[in-house]
Amino acid sequence: MNQKEGIVLTGFMGSGKSAVGRILANRLSRSFIDLDHLIEKHEKMSISNIFAEHGEACFRKLELEYLQKVIVADSCVIALGGGALQQQEVMNLVQHHAILIYLKVPEETLLNRLKKDKKRPMLHDSQGHLLDETGLRNKIRSLIRKREPCYQKADITVSVKPHWMIHETANEIARSLHHHAPTAFPEND
Ligand code: S3P
Repeated sequence: MNQKEGIVLTGFMGSGKSAVGRILANRLSRSFIDLDHLIEKHEKMSISNIFAEHGEACFRKLELEYLQKVIVADSCVIALGGGALQQQEVMNLVQHHAILIYLKVPEETLLNRLKKDKKRPMLHDSQGHLLDETGLRNKIRSLIRKREPCYQKADITVSVKPHWMIHETANEIARSLHHHAPTAFPEND
């Protein structure tokens, strides 16, 4: 087994981390943890409500706290929220314990996915409504610019093609994992 046993997926909101992570975990016979769902389940609150009632800073603390609990537990596949790696402690933890995989999705594809989704507080205006298309495009662009240096620290970057189905992305990750650590991830794993 590779020294780093965990697998962590990162990428912008809407990049498919949760859906792909679940398939990848299944394929590797590992358990899957979606960090946002874990927080919601244990805090008994939606991410939107955590942001609305306690603010982003509180949510960021929870991300770190819950990741600390699960990342050392066993060799699972973890999907982070798109902003988690901006915290240096989160980055340190991930780099120490896991192989970090970045799902890089074209900006236009992200925009098309995210404009249909009302549940992400980072993409809301001050009234709590989803930004209009221009606002959304600008916000996505500026957040990506800020976050890209963190995403770029990944051990593996998968450039997701807009037409790929989820399982094709998972296949590509499995191929990349094999190249990265052939003993830990045999070809037909
Ligand atoms: C966030 C991304 C969300 C969630 C929260 C904040 C971000 O997760 O953690 O709304 O800052 O990019 P997804 O990337 O799964 O949407």
